[in-house]
Amino acid sequence: MATVLAIETSCDETAVAIVNNRQVMSNIIASQIPVHSQYGGVVPEVASRQHLEIINGAIAQALEQAQLDWREIDGIAATCAPGLVGALLVGLTAAKTLAVVHNKPFLGVHHLEGHIYATYLSEPDLQPAFLSLLVSGGHTSLIYVKDCGEYQTLGETRDDAAGEAFDKVARLLQLGYPGGPVIDRLAKQGNSQAFSLPEGKVSLPHGGYHPYDASFSGLKTAVLRLVQQLEKQEQPVPVADVAASFQDTVARSLTKRAIACAIDHGLNTIAVGGGVAANSALREHLQAAGAQHNLRVLFPPLKLCTDNAAMIGCAAADHLNRGYTSPLTLGVQSRLGLTQVMELYKH
Ligand code: KG4
Ligand code: ZN
Repeated sequence: MATVLAIETSCDETAVAIVNNRQVMSNIIASQIPVHSQYGGVVPEVASRQHLEIINGAIAQALEQAQLDWREIDGIAATCAPGLVGALLVGLTAAKTLAVVHNKPFLGVHHLEGHIYATYLSEPDLQPAFLSLLVSGGHTSLIYVKDCGEYQTLGETRDDAAGEAFDKVARLLQLGYPGGPVIDRLAKQGNSQAFSLPEGKVSLPHGGYHPYDASFSGLKTAVLRLVQQLEKQEQPVPVADVAASFQDTVARSLTKRAIACAIDHGLNTIAVGGGVAANSALREHLQAAGAQHNLRVLFPPLKLCTDNAAMIGCAAADHLNRGYTSPLTLGVQSRLGLTQVMELYKH
């Protein structure tokens, strides 16, 4: 029953949490969104500097909120891949230093494994196997979760991530950053059937379409063309209708792929994670389709869906309980496949 202090700094959230197995003791998240929104997106160098400024205070706060001191911590973990290298380095260096100073085991954690573990925090009785639908600003994947450290990616986006598509469409509609929440809000006042937009299918070499892979860049271009066409005809752009039609197309595309993937692989549970899990159309479509096919669809609370350190701590605790630790020579990596997770624990 390991108690782990975990740090997550892979992108624009400086997060520190303490987790006892599947129980959150504290969960500190300092978002940098206000800093980056003035640039219209995440600026890596700015993110690293912000992490540096915030991290020590966040660590102290996490211990205080959990009412624990270092003697009660069994291990110290940090996200080491994938993500922005400079940003990851801040959290990983902090974790290694604390591990040495307090003489505790150190663990590097794969960011996507963390997102998968977010569901265990809200569903402590959940056991693998299940299907994880990960939809964030950087990732869109369907992952077969076999066991701790054992994952198979069954489907993914061939171009933009789902959240990235929301952000890009919001930018072209001049709605600001991040785009997902604004589009979601605006779509409530719009008609999702107003415009028919292409779903974005991935062709297979010998005909037909890949059943689980998605593509969102064509959809984004279709929205751009639609807006340009309306402007050329000097017609006002019905922003709410465009937002609703776009959102509905993304939600239907993700739902169709996730349901087919779960059924084809005999999995009866779909666990959703990542910032796009907040999307109301995705929630509606997936819950309805899940009920129709007798599948359990789990959406953890939003605070655990978006980037946080509690999910990283939960993954680290599971590895630590199984006797795994990482060497202090472990570095950060901007890219790393989920199939390589166990390499983080090789000495
Ligand atoms: O998981 P996350 O916080 O960070 C990454 O690891 O990327 O996800 C952020 C992404 C952004 O692209 C944001 O626009 C999107 O999640 N997002 C949403 C919603 N809330 C956040 N997308 C659609 N609908 C939402 N309600
Ligand atoms: Zn993430």
